[in-house]
Amino acid sequence: MELSPFSFRLSSLILEIIERKKVSLDIALKEALKKLRTYEEAPKAYRIAIIALKRFAEADLLLKSKGMLGIPLRRKCAFRVAYSLVKEGLVEVKDIRGVRGGLLSNRLLRLFTKGELENVENLINSLPIAERLSIKFSTPKWIVETFLRFLGERETTEILKANLIRRRWIRVNTIKINIKDALKSLVERGLRPKIDKDYRFLIEVSDASIPLDNLPLIKRGHAILQDKGSVIVVESLGVKREDLILDVAAAPGIKTSLIQQVRNNEGNVIAVDISKKRVLAMKVLLKKLGVRGISIILGDATRGFFRGKFDKVLIDAPCTNSGAMRQDPALRLILWNKPGIERYHKLQHLMLINGIDMLKKGGVLVFSTCSFSEREGEAHFEQKMNDITLDPSGIKFGARGYKEFSSSEYVRRLFPHLHGTIGFFIARAIKE
Ligand SMILES: C[S@@+](CC[C@H](N)C(=O)[O-])C[C@H]1O[C@@H](n2cnc3c(N)ncnc32)[C@H](O)[C@@H]1O
Repeated sequence: MELSPFSFRLSSLILEIIERKKVSLDIALKEALKKLRTYEEAPKAYRIAIIALKRFAEADLLLKSKGMLGIPLRRKCAFRVAYSLVKEGLVEVKDIRGVRGGLLSNRLLRLFTKGELENVENLINSLPIAERLSIKFSTPKWIVETFLRFLGERETTEILKANLIRRRWIRVNTIKINIKDALKSLVERGLRPKIDKDYRFLIEVSDASIPLDNLPLIKRGHAILQDKGSVIVVESLGVKREDLILDVAAAPGIKTSLIQQVRNNEGNVIAVDISKKRVLAMKVLLKKLGVRGISIILGDATRGFFRGKFDKVLIDAPCTNSGAMRQDPALRLILWNKPGIERYHKLQHLMLINGIDMLKKGGVLVFSTCSFSEREGEAHFEQKMNDITLDPSGIKFGARGYKEFSSSEYVRRLFPHLHGTIGFFIARAIKE
């Protein structure tokens, strides 16, 4: 790889922004570009940042072993980038020396000797298993521990490996364009689109190593980025033309818009979200996509308002996002320190109770979180809830929930290594 001082600086800054501001990779790239304005370097820096986000924990371990973990964040991020590229065999130490500017001191550069790199390898291999896998795959230890506890070592390693491979899908907005034209537009942009085997309106574009929201197709509202797992969640609702649907936690409206796409804009959805900013973004998005039949409410979905009114309720609850690392590698860094999961658990549970209340008898409720944590999944259904029966029959794909839970047979989990998606927990319930 040909490394320039600009791509080195830009990729280091992307990591720094992610860690400081806890933002996604794509947002960090935009912010970094505003600052450095080296636009032509963006695709390369983006690729480099992805590589570094999959290796940063090893770099940190090396720094820690030398008592240097406390160096300024700017330098630490530059070190992570340099380490990752050297370790992947993409550049040599002399290349780093040529581009480092003021970002890497001689002391840091001296850590790139063959002996030091071998030492890190030995150090990793001497660690207890959860820590070892966490560092090897730059995945937060608390997530690795969850996998080990419920799935065992072999499957944990499979998930962690699959999670390193970024798969991305574009959902063609068939309200506005047909699939053939969408494919043509993607090919014209130099991509190699592949129609998904299960959903014809989903096109896989995993070969793209650029932010995809700049594609003309997306800018015009002819398509939207959506993971296949998110499509499976919506499909579990079994949307019918005449259904009155409540979508709580709806913004920015990716799932809401799919609900209307599958029934050709017929029927009505009440979409609720508590965030003013996200509701605004939702309004813009739905307009751009040409979606109709949505009434948007800025409100708190933990408080009831429409008792027993809806045929279907979708609760795509706010969560840690720990299932989405594959889509957004920035989450590896953002979630490194365990976030407050209990806060999410409580909020999700209140939404669930309230959602059940708003459902008609015989109606269907789908509860989903893009999380690997059992507290954001199975734990919600440990005690029998009045009024509902879990019925996974409408969830087309997914493995059983984590063992040890009484609900595990009746709920579903999507995993990167089994389903190719990001991680999702899905429960589907019928109101008695
Ligand atoms: C996972 S996101 C939803 C994504 C959305 N379903 C989609 O597909 O585009 C969770 C959403 O829950 C919203 N939220 C958080 N607390 C809420 C509450 N108490 N009531 C309603 N919405 C809430 C957040 O603002 C956020 O937009």
